[in-house]
Amino acid sequence: MNAPFHPRTATLRDPFAAFVCDDQTADALRPVAIEMGWPPEKVHKGGLRNAVQTLAVSASPHILFVDMSESGDPLNDINALAEVCEPGTVVIAAGQVNDVRLYRDLVASGIQDYLLKPFSADQAREAFAHAQLTLSGPRTAEHVADRPHLMATVIGVRGGVGASTIASSLGWLLGENEGRSTALLDLDIHFGTGALSFDVEPGRGLTDAIENPSRIDGLFIERAMVKAAEKLSVLSAEAPLNQPLLTDGSAFYQLQEELKAAFESTVLDLPRHMLIQHPHLLHDTQSVVLVTELTLAAARDTIRMLSWLKANAPGAAVTVVANRVVSGAGEISRKEFEDSIERKVDLAIPYDAKMFAQAAKLGKPLAEVAKSSKTGAPLIELARGISRAAENGEGKTGGDGRSLMDKLGELKALLPKRKAK
Ligand SMILES: Nc1ncnc2c1ncn2[C@@H]1O[C@H](COP(=O)(O)OP(=O)(O)OP(=O)(O)O)[C@@H](O)[C@H]1O
Ligand SMILES: [Mg+2]
Repeated sequence: MNAPFHPRTATLRDPFAAFVCDDQTADALRPVAIEMGWPPEKVHKGGLRNAVQTLAVSASPHILFVDMSESGDPLNDINALAEVCEPGTVVIAAGQVNDVRLYRDLVASGIQDYLLKPFSADQAREAFAHAQLTLSGPRTAEHVADRPHLMATVIGVRGGVGASTIASSLGWLLGENEGRSTALLDLDIHFGTGALSFDVEPGRGLTDAIENPSRIDGLFIERAMVKAAEKLSVLSAEAPLNQPLLTDGSAFYQLQEELKAAFESTVLDLPRHMLIQHPHLLHDTQSVVLVTELTLAAARDTIRMLSWLKANAPGAAVTVVANRVVSGAGEISRKEFEDSIERKVDLAIPYDAKMFAQAAKLGKPLAEVAKSSKTGAPLIELARGISRAAENGEGKTGGDGRSLMDKLGELKALLPKRKAK
């Protein structure tokens, strides 16, 4: 539907709402809504008229069902609905008029489907499944089989270093600049920002997958993925805080397998504690992006993480990205950091409060907002490097044969030096 977009309300959008004219239609819809995982209370009375009034003052749902039985001038009323409905809403209409011309006109006005009343549960189910497919990401058929799949995993060595920001930007750039259909899998089940950073609803896909790993297949992926950009789909969750993450990890394995089949690249936003719990998550990763800050604690954890990766993901190419870099004012210098981890920092992203705030406000990835600035340049380089390496089947390991204890010992030696200054 074409109406002015209200950017920040999009995060509050319900997955579904219906406005019906009679009890019979409400009774037909409620069980189907429950099956789809939607609250049955979202089936309201009042038909199209109430839909227009309600949506004029609240966010549009992703899927909207409107009963037009009481509408004297269906086309005119549908246009009134278009005025208040946000873009991206999939509208399914129902009515009692069996006229192919009306059907065609409604479809031309942006309605996805028209159900003739009374309709069966199967008809409603089919219409909603189709609507979900429209909302979800790229179809399996779009996958270009001769391009090797690229799996990149982004891990923050400490909390809050900017790993998720970099993961969402990397996903966006692999789609936008490198032309790969890309999935962003955000495994921060409770606090993930994968969907939020693109101003889309996370949906229930990821929590459903964890609860029922046996349901994960190609069709499940098509329905669960939320389209965030032209070539990027997101699987993310905002699981309730009273719902602990109970999984043996099989759902994650299954998800990775299906994403490999459906997309050309997968970007995994992996909270560092998940790495300890589920080390197998890195088995198929060609590329690991370790995001760090230039601090002592981050240097310690970068050393430990590099050592872990050497043992657990020996074939993966590791890129160390220093983020939030303030030149000349960091806790330790880039040189001191590189000396202690005994490895170069591959890319440095400056601290740029303005650009990051702007990206958050616009609900756009940092890489898009900062694409022609020096903050965005290292991200473009990162995406290009990872994509090229995958195309050439390249890999390089982050290890260099030095023991973890040696490196930690040298890191500690830095401490008195700093205090003496
Ligand atoms: N270079 C930067 N300059 C300024 N702000 C930044 C920079 N990088 C990240 N931020 C901000 O820091 C915050 C944390 O970023 P983000 O959520 O990506 O970190 P994270 O490592 O994924 O955190 P968590 O440990 O919670 O998963 C965000 O508000 C982000 O906008
Ligand atoms: Mg994060």
